[in-house]
Amino acid sequence: MNTMATGTFYGVGIGPGDPELLTLKAVRVLSSCSCIYVPTSKLSRQEYPAQVARRYAGSECEVKEVTFSLAATSEERCRHWHQIAQEIALRCEAGEDVALVTLGDALLYSTTIYLLRALQEVAPELPVETVPGISAFSLAAALTGTPLGEGQQPLRVIPAVKDMAEIEQAVASGEGLVLMKIGSRLQEIIDLLERCGALDRSVFVARAGLEGQHVETDLRHLRGADDKMGNLSVVLVQAADEEGV
Ligand SMILES: C[S@@+](CC[C@H](N)C(=O)[O-])C[C@H]1O[C@@H](n2cnc3c(N)ncnc32)[C@H](O)[C@@H]1O
Repeated sequence: MNTMATGTFYGVGIGPGDPELLTLKAVRVLSSCSCIYVPTSKLSRQEYPAQVARRYAGSECEVKEVTFSLAATSEERCRHWHQIAQEIALRCEAGEDVALVTLGDALLYSTTIYLLRALQEVAPELPVETVPGISAFSLAAALTGTPLGEGQQPLRVIPAVKDMAEIEQAVASGEGLVLMKIGSRLQEIIDLLERCGALDRSVFVARAGLEGQHVETDLRHLRGADDKMGNLSVVLVQAADEEGV
């Protein structure tokens, strides 16, 4: 009879990039896993997740890079995540604890979400645990001294890949906003913030906590900046109503 206990899959958020913003729990979990998966992308290579995995992996631990599927259809992407989920499920069923590391928080626009969904389908009984991480927008707020919300103000997080008209509507509403996934749309976003009279309540942070960090509290200074400046960046727009109590 096989009495080996099933291992656990951990989705671990490792924070935005400052090694001091990795949680104690993340370090403990990573140090005890037999295998750590590191998602990589052909579009933008990030060194930090692999560095964290290698730094905290035990001597017997395998650190394995998996490339994000950039397949055109959601079926193909789904098949890709199912394959990885099956591989992870086999490892866990053999008694191994397995982790996937991702930047920021594990459940905010993160690869972990796809993998957890695929695992739920291929191995619904598998023990899974998520270790939250400090999101990039929390560090951006700290670096710029920007309150994210006070009193009764709502805070809205928008991936800037969305329709610009929708983003403009949100900015014009005066709500507090976090704009993520800005990429090559930085100049468009600056124009939009100016049109809405929101430039003076907006800040920009790129590569928060990472090498090449760029903090800008006057977005006018970013006019004409290289297209790459928007990569791995967030814009925080403070609520227009400062009396939100
Ligand atoms: C796939 S999402 C990951 C979000 C991440 N899970 C989080 O909680 O911050 C990628 C987006 O997160 C933001 N991001 C992640 N790390 C960042 C960093 N170190 N500095 C600034 N923005 C970052 C950027 O907006 C980027 O386009």
